[in-house]
Amino acid sequence: MTKMYHRLPVEAYTSQEWFDREQQLIFSRSWRYAGLREDLPEPGHYLSVQAGLNNIFIVMGRDHRLRAFHNICRHRGTQLIRAVGKTQKALTCPYHDWTYDLEGNLISVPDEESEYPGGLDKGCLGLKPASVDIWRGMLFVHPDADAPTLAEWFGEVEPLLGPHNPAELVEYPEARRSYEIKANWKIVVENYIDVYHLSHLHSNTLHMYDHARAEYGWKGPHYHFWEPPAPDYAKELEKNLPSPRVIPEPHVGAWVPMLFPGIGLGASEDSWNIFVITPLGPDLTRIENRTKLADVSAWEFTKQEWRSAGFWQGFGGPKYSGEDAAGEEGPMASGDFTAEDIYVCEQQQKSLSSPYLEIGPAAVGESPITRHQQAVLDFMALQAKATADNV
Ligand code: FES
Ligand SMILES: [Fe+2]
Repeated sequence: MTKMYHRLPVEAYTSQEWFDREQQLIFSRSWRYAGLREDLPEPGHYLSVQAGLNNIFIVMGRDHRLRAFHNICRHRGTQLIRAVGKTQKALTCPYHDWTYDLEGNLISVPDEESEYPGGLDKGCLGLKPASVDIWRGMLFVHPDADAPTLAEWFGEVEPLLGPHNPAELVEYPEARRSYEIKANWKIVVENYIDVYHLSHLHSNTLHMYDHARAEYGWKGPHYHFWEPPAPDYAKELEKNLPSPRVIPEPHVGAWVPMLFPGIGLGASEDSWNIFVITPLGPDLTRIENRTKLADVSAWEFTKQEWRSAGFWQGFGGPKYSGEDAAGEEGPMASGDFTAEDIYVCEQQQKSLSSPYLEIGPAAVGESPITRHQQAVLDFMALQAKATADNV
């Protein structure tokens, strides 16, 4: 009998086969976060990103337009570019020097006459286009050149994402982080949207919010969440906000949505951040974190205040002790709620292969988890059907 984890079989969190199907049916068929708008400021700047099975790059053309292409040389398929960079006006494949312009056209083939005596129709050998779109200051790519727009994909949930226009905020580079969690990507998402754990796992780190008054729900496969600060903390925050208020009501609180698949955002009255979840294997996930602020100097001040007031003190205790904890000076000692989340995600993943595992009943505050599991199933079923219809 298949063992279930609420609505999904436990294998969905442990097996290579499920991982491969998700790569194929979810991450190769949806919009993938690629960076922030300001990462590509000038013509010739490019960056590449893995979107499921597809590697896609975005390049700014001489006309200042962004275009996305599959990062596959039309000769023998070699990846043209790696990571991030700037080229003058052309992209040359490292293997045999086939060269493309910034608009994706094949413009030169070395020794063309002698190597291709019968002639070569370069006009048919341009790079394959993908889609690129900008939404709230973020770059996204989609493998399908005719994908529906981001405005359509995120439109319904957009009004519930918090007060900031991220394009107008300033990045705080010290907060940029990238790290791996030894757990399935869905465990990481489920932890992000688990309302039940907020007052327990984070009893020492997120106590400034009033979790009992959290408001959350779904728009299609996208989750939205807002919670107000605890009453005392709210008064302090309101006092320190610039006047007149530049953000609409509610002025304070935490907006922590999770967009499908695996794009977490987190905003408060003075900051905004992105938490991008990339599955690397059935039990390994990469997180990329970037933070933007309404006012960088104010943030430095707030951090200092927290430290001097011993704000984080009291973190730790018996929940996290023992040999297996992440190390004395590691993330678990930092008093950072993210470290608490990483810890429980990894502790949970460890049990998933045990024959004795039996998942208990879901609590009310865990309803987002079962709803996300359903979103995964629905998206995969829809894409599997679309594939079958196209055959
Ligand atoms: S594979 Fe790119 S030039 Fe040969
Ligand atoms: Fe958490």
